Amino acid sequence: MTKTILEMDNITKTFPGVKALNDVNLKVRQGEIHALIGENGAGKSTLMKVLSGVHPFGTYDGKILYEGDICEFKTINDSENKRIVIIHQELALIPELSIAENIFLGNERAKKGIINWNETIVETRELLKKVGLHVDPQETVKNIGVGQQQLVEIAKALSKQVKLLILDEPTAALNEDDSENLLNLLLEFKKQGMTAILISHKLKELFKVSDTITVLRDGQTIATYPLKENKVSEAQIIKDMVGRDLTNLFPERYPNIKENVVFEVKDWNVYHPLDKERQILHNINLNVKEGEIIGIAGLMGAGRTELAMSVFGRSYGKKITGQLFKNGKEIVFKNVNDAIKNGIAYVSENRKEYGLILIDSVKKNLTLANLKKISNRNVLNASKEANISEALKEQMNIKTPSVEQQTVNLSGGNQQKVVLGKWIFAEPDILILDEPTRGIDVGAKFEIYKIINELAEKGKSIIMISSELPELIGMCDRIYTLSEGRITGEIQKDEANQETLMTHMTQSWRS
Ligand SMILES: Nc1ncnc2c1ncn2[C@@H]1O[C@H](COP(=O)(O)OP(=O)(O)OP(=O)(O)O)[C@@H](O)[C@H]1O
Ligand SMILES: [Mg+2]
Repeated sequence: MTKTILEMDNITKTFPGVKALNDVNLKVRQGEIHALIGENGAGKSTLMKVLSGVHPFGTYDGKILYEGDICEFKTINDSENKRIVIIHQELALIPELSIAENIFLGNERAKKGIINWNETIVETRELLKKVGLHVDPQETVKNIGVGQQQLVEIAKALSKQVKLLILDEPTAALNEDDSENLLNLLLEFKKQGMTAILISHKLKELFKVSDTITVLRDGQTIATYPLKENKVSEAQIIKDMVGRDLTNLFPERYPNIKENVVFEVKDWNVYHPLDKERQILHNINLNVKEGEIIGIAGLMGAGRTELAMSVFGRSYGKKITGQLFKNGKEIVFKNVNDAIKNGIAYVSENRKEYGLILIDSVKKNLTLANLKKISNRNVLNASKEANISEALKEQMNIKTPSVEQQTVNLSGGNQQKVVLGKWIFAEPDILILDEPTRGIDVGAKFEIYKIINELAEKGKSIIMISSELPELIGMCDRIYTLSEGRITGEIQKDEANQETLMTHMTQSWRS
């Protein structure tokens, strides 16, 4: 038996109106990868913030023992001095700074206040090598992809000589290759003696790399299982998480697809916003009928989000040519407002950048996209606003003590539900969903799928972009595949399986 490196005993943490943690216990062994799983709002991030001093000693009850010592961290620095490092759910790098600057931010290689850039660059290069990232240390962070940014975060942790690494949903925004790369890296570091706590909603990846799994539900520890030797099933974990059996991952669907095409994209060409020579989308043609759910499958970089955004009021791209039709009539958008006025909504994959005003209340965010519906002759009707947001909160099962809560205080997955709720309330005719269930737990996914199905049954047209092929296969009536900016296939529901989709998604037309 290896020894216990970390023990969190009877941790209780209360926020106004919420008991986020209620007597939680967690024991992590030296050198293991310990998975932490639970529904959105179960308390995973909060527990890790208690551990790393983000929520300082004195603001919670309970005891933390690390390497046998009692820990009373007042700041993140205190935990980092013990070589405990957390990588948060929302990436914390500063996009405008270089990789090297980000890695040594607050920890500068300096003498008498003068930064030694040579040393900084050399050390960064070393660290990047360790995480398998072959880019220039002076590259600006905003110019590299999310997968690479996640590796920079890990390099940054290594620069602090991390012994216990906490990763809060590190793969939520990554594609399959990048996820696998990151998980392999964790296994590599484990060999070198590092301990890790890994939070994720992706059961498959947790089963692949973790030694032990702890399930939280409603701020309480439900169970801890060893994961090797097949002692526990995925079904059991899901049951522990949601408190009931969940046999179907997708709700029953009763398609009610009409013959008429509601939305059509014709010969759509888009160029890169900064590089007018670079064509991102080539001659895209697609359509969606009344009551239909279509999918767009493609690898990272295939142009899925660029397609959605360029269609949604030209919010991406330059030199756009082609036509859009709604109910057979051409529509021309100059901007996002035009698109919204014409009954199109786009639920973005990046809730922070395009979806939410985090400092505003849940209520304001939910009703923002359809103010008309809560106003009488342009005057906002406060009681309507309150009733409607309360109803949406129920329908989407958004976990918050009140709709007056600032959205920033919601758990990651519950923020995502607010984004979805907002656009559902806008009652668009055409709803474009870009990675709608990113960071959402299995139980809540089912509820969201149900809502999407209901919208389709009411005659709305849905376009769904997702990296999770099972999700597209489970939900869509038809799936278009996109590769290197071109449509490479159109696959009907009964022919859709992972192999067929993959073949089309990886089809290259350059050669
Ligand atoms: N700063 C805060 N102020 C008020 N409430 C908070 C704050 N931080 C978290 N909460 C609440 O505590 C509960 C637990 O949230 P937490 O972020 O730990 O969930 P989580 O398990 O990480 O969920 P997810 O999978 O969605 O990320 C939620 O009800 C959340 O709204
Ligand atoms: Mg969280």
